[in-house]
This record gives sequence, structure tokens and C-alpha cells, in this order.
Amino acid sequence: MSADDRSAEILDRLRRLRARDAPTHGGRTLAYVYDSGVAELDELAARAAEIARPLNGLDPTAFPSIAAMERDLIAFARRALHGDSRRARAFGSVTSGGTESCLLAVKTARDLWRAADPLRARSRPRLVAPVTAHAAFQKAARLFDLEWDPVPCAADGTVSADEMIRRLSADVALVVVSAPAYPSGALDPVGRVAAAAADRGISCHVDACFGGLVLPWWPGLPAWDFRVRGVTSISADLHKFGYAPKGVSVLLHRGRARHRAQFFATTRWPGYPVVNPTLLGSRSASPTAAAWAIAQRLGDRGYAELTARCVRATRSIVAAADRIEGLAVQGRPAGPAVALIADPAVPAAARVDPHLLADEVARLEFRIQHQPGLVQSNGVRLPHSAHLTITPVTERTLPELLDVLARAADAVRGRPRPEPRAELAALRMLGYGSGSRSGSRVRVPGPRAAWRILRAAGVRVDAGGLPERLAPLMALAERLPAPVAEALLTELLARVSEP
Ligand SMILES: Cc1ncc(COP(=O)(O)O)c(C=O)c1O
Repeated sequence: MSADDRSAEILDRLRRLRARDAPTHGGRTLAYVYDSGVAELDELAARAAEIARPLNGLDPTAFPSIAAMERDLIAFARRALHGDSRRARAFGSVTSGGTESCLLAVKTARDLWRAADPLRARSRPRLVAPVTAHAAFQKAARLFDLEWDPVPCAADGTVSADEMIRRLSADVALVVVSAPAYPSGALDPVGRVAAAAADRGISCHVDACFGGLVLPWWPGLPAWDFRVRGVTSISADLHKFGYAPKGVSVLLHRGRARHRAQFFATTRWPGYPVVNPTLLGSRSASPTAAAWAIAQRLGDRGYAELTARCVRATRSIVAAADRIEGLAVQGRPAGPAVALIADPAVPAAARVDPHLLADEVARLEFRIQHQPGLVQSNGVRLPHSAHLTITPVTERTLPELLDVLARAADAVRGRPRPEPRAELAALRMLGYGSGSRSGSRVRVPGPRAAWRILRAAGVRVDAGGLPERLAPLMALAERLPAPVAEALLTELLARVSEP
């Protein structure tokens, strides 16, 4: 076999592997991917990414093209987020994604909080956020040693500004609000929370990883960006509604000093001086180049036009879901994220369980995302739901999508959610199923026990795939103490890529 043939065969194998993936284009996958629906944009992004492929983002002085692209992207994002006035001048960095932007926002706020008072040098501050704030903030709290203080939300996914403000005392390093929250689509009360935070000298981050490049053009929203007094940082993902391939986000801070507090620099080793604005060292410039090319091509008008498609599609989906008997939309989404729930206003016999719905939708070759319910610290349960991310391409597949939702609802209406009674009883026998949901004093299974439990619960991992029907697994995960559920899901995911 020639070298060319061998390469062709390898690429062929990759294509065959890709055949099992969820479709990334065409509007059938309503989570994970953000499809502009404009083939020419994808083509442009791919070519830009290829041009930048050999670069190393570690050092933009060696590769000034990266610095030039980053300057343009930051300038674009700060204009969109109103961080370009003299009153609110924002400075920022390009990061590898939403999680990294959120991690850095927390690390920066923690460092500034500690630096503000020598007595705080070794203290563990709190991080206050609605329980709907992205899990990346829990990760940040664990990594950077803050106490995670989630504020309960109402069943419709909204949080009370008063409830948040009540928690803002001197030991809070950061309060987070979302624009919008991924699980519910709700826009948190940015104005009141940020003003209260400012009055108390507390940092306030707006997590607009999801909405940062779509809400600026969304009609009828209250101000939630740097126009709001007290907002000290905002994250906005270019690899979501910036339509870039994965690996690129921006984090903006109000004022130079806050931005500089984000950096890591050391001259205390014998190698090259390390100055990292973000968490990674060496990093790809391809996603940055792709995002840059797309932003250049679309500009403000292009984003406004693509957002208008999202607005129309979201309105149609919300209206259609409201018309489907037994199904309801959680709260009032302020952006292109919709959570479908069982309509609590109708009798159980007429209800549509969102997870059975999501499984049925998958059988009909669309994908919507299972979100487990959550019993909060105050006992209020956030209902389990099915999440839809609506992108510009959704408008094109709308008739088919609405038909699939209606047919799937007809197929599962009145069917109760799977009750994992036998599994829970078996787990309790093994000593894993009891204890509080929050996980105090529970026994956590190790890898082998976790795998045995998963198999006993009927979960199989076939050649890299997850179980076809996720509703039973989600029901089980929701009912177990969190550390047990987390151990099971960790095991499941680890096995997926275990050789
Ligand atoms: C509001 C919000 N914040 C943060 C993230 C984390 O982003 P990423 O998956 O890019 O790390 C997401 C992802 O969906 C999100 O919706």
C-alpha cells in the first residue's frame, strides 16, 4: 500500500467512525452544536482554522497574527456587550471555551478578594449563584477552594434578586448571574444583583457563555451587560452563538486591573518566562482564527440577522409546545434555550414526561437533551426537563421538528416516568442508596462496584455509545445521593473511552 493509500484508508476509517455521531449540521441536534445554517461560514471557518493550524497560542509575540486576531475578537465582543464606553471600559482574553472563561472569572475574583485584605490571605470565600448557574462554577469552586453557595430557584427556573442579595456579605468573593441560564433559559436579575454587589464591594460575573453573542440582538430584554453598574466581568462563547468550531470563548473584565489579575506569570524557573493569560500553556490558534474569520464576515448585521432567525424559531417552538397537550415550557425563556416539562396543570393521564419524550424524539432522529430534576436545599423541586438549544438552522427544520415533537408527545402521553424502584432497593442492600441527596455520609462505589451497579440497572455501553434510552438512567441518577450518582456517571463516561 502506498503512503497515499494508507492516508486515504485512515481518513476513511475516521469518516466511518464519524457516521455514528449525532449530526452536527442540519438542525436535528438541539444541544451541543450551534449551526448557523450557512454553509459558506463553515467553509470560511475551516479554511481560516487550517491557515492558523501550525501556530502556538502560547506566545503571541512569536506569532503576532494571533494577537491581531485576539484584538479584533475582544474589540468585537466588548462592543456587543457595551464594554467600550469611557465609563465601562472592558479588557479581556480569548480562552478555550466556556468552562475556562468561568474558571478564570472565579479565580480572578477570588484573588482580588484575598488581595483586598491581608486577613483574607488564607480564607475560603463563598461563591454565590442561582442553582441554575452552569456547573462550571461548581468546578471552579472546587478547584480554587471557594464555598459553593447555590441560591434556590422557583420551579419556573427564576431566582429572587432579594434572596441573592441577602447572601451578599463580606465573605463573598463573587456573585454569578446568567444571561441566560442554560437549564431554563431564564435571564437572571442582573441589574439588582450587580448593583447590590457593587454597593458591598463584591465582584459580579455575568455568565453569558450561552447568550453573549445572541442576546445583544434579542428584542425586549432589560440591560444585562456592562451597561449595568456593578457587572465586573462577562463570559461569552464564540464557539456557541459565535458559530465558531469548539475551542474559543472570551472573558471580559471591567477595567485593566481586574483583567491583569487573571494572568499567571513566573520568572522563577530556568526556562522561558511564562506569562499565561489563561489556564492553558500551549494552545491551538485554529479556533481563534475560525472565530475571527466568522466575526469579520458577519459583523454586527450578520449576527443580528442570524439572531432574528433564532428569535422566530424559538417563538414558534414555545407556541407549539404550549399547544401540545400535557407538555409545557418552563418559565419564560429569554433567549434561544427552551426547557420542556410535563404540564403540571393537567391530570397525570394527560401529561407528557419530558424524558420519555426526549427518548422518543431520538427514535425519530432528532436529539433534545435530558435534564434531571433537582430537589433544592429548601425542598423545592426543579422539574426534570428536556432542553432545546435553538440555532439559526432550526428555522429551516421547524416544520419537521414540530411534527416530531407532536408525534413523540402522542406516543408517550400518559405514560409515567420509569420508577427505578428495584434498582434503588438493590443499591440500598449494597449500602449505596441511602443517605441524604446532598451526599453527607454516603458510601460511594469505586470503579468496579459502580460498573456492577450500572449493569444491574440495565445500562450497557456498546462500542462507545450510551444507552439508547436515557430516561431510566436519568430517573435513577436523580434519586440517588449525589456522590453515588456522580460515581456511576463517572464510571459510565470513563468506560466509553477505555481501551
Ligand atoms: C451558561 C453557560 N455557561 C458555561 C457553559 C460551559 O461552556 P463550555 O461547554 O464551552 O465549557 C455553558 C455550556 O453550555 C453554558 O451554557
